[in-house]
Amino acid sequence: MILITGATGTVGRALLDRLLEAGTPVRALTRDPQQARVPAGVEVVGGDLGDEDSLKPALEGVTKVFAVSAGHLRGLHDGNLARAAARAGARHIVQLSSLAVAEDPENILGRWHADGERAIREAGIGWTILRPNGFMSNALQWAPSIRRNSEVRAPFGDLASAPVDPADIAAAAAAVLRGDGHESAIYPLTGPGAVTPRDQVRVLGEVLGRPLRFRELTEAEALAEMSAAMPVETASAVLRARAAAGEFRAQTHPGVEQLTGRRATSFAEWAARNADAFR
Ligand SMILES: NC(=O)c1ccc[n+]([C@@H]2O[C@H](COP(=O)([O-])OP(=O)(O)OC[C@H]3O[C@@H](n4cnc5c(N)ncnc54)[C@H](OP(=O)(O)O)[C@@H]3O)[C@@H](O)[C@H]2O)c1
Repeated sequence: MILITGATGTVGRALLDRLLEAGTPVRALTRDPQQARVPAGVEVVGGDLGDEDSLKPALEGVTKVFAVSAGHLRGLHDGNLARAAARAGARHIVQLSSLAVAEDPENILGRWHADGERAIREAGIGWTILRPNGFMSNALQWAPSIRRNSEVRAPFGDLASAPVDPADIAAAAAAVLRGDGHESAIYPLTGPGAVTPRDQVRVLGEVLGRPLRFRELTEAEALAEMSAAMPVETASAVLRARAAAGEFRAQTHPGVEQLTGRRATSFAEWAARNADAFR
């Protein structure tokens, strides 16, 4: 039995599909089993990563665990999960971390994930760490303004990065959870090429068949807008990480292909698959 945390989230939900397709028995952890939307055939168990004892029922009979939670609580949540998993006799934990760990250990995003990685490594069971770059699905935050007035407002319009499709992260996680030989390995995961926000908006316009405007925000404007949707420290950390990223975030890594045996999804392919969300 494999326990998927973050099972109602972007990556965990896609991972449930991959594991079910492969016929692997899976259990989903959520704080709210009544509300959780998971595919038929998945056992849903309640538990809170902030409360180590609450994880016991979810970990009964589990051999492998996928670890995800909200960024700023990674140290606490991953520590609770890893200790509870080790006590329950699980053999291996696969963690969704972030490329931010390798980028700038002084950035708060990097520190949150470094705390989570340390907790996993110190738990005394086998581990594998996946370090994705920014998710392609972050572009979904532009959907309301694209639908409303064909406009995207974002900072750093010309800053390139190599974002990764969350479906590729899920496929990579499924390969690690179902395979052997990934103990103590760290896999950076990116898409196949670098794109700037301006490029992404142009590609979305091509997919939708109409031109979209890109309006570049200053960092202060971006902080004000992002703080409406997330804690101000998170918004500020994300912006500082992006501002300082330089070439690092634009580099591509072969992790998706190594783990899944197929080329990573391009942003154009992701946009075509998700076009309806922008219509
Ligand atoms: N977005 C990016 O660009 C990016 C880049 C690199 C790394 N990451 C990493 O990816 C993570 C997010 O992954 P995602 O987008 O797949 O998730 P998501 O869609 O943001 O969903 C968060 C998941 O975490 C679960 N969760 C949160 N707090 C919990 C708690 N106290 N107890 C149990 N479960 C809890 C939620 O489950 P319930 O609500 O059902 O309880 C939900 O399934 C980030 O935190 C970061 O570490 C993201």
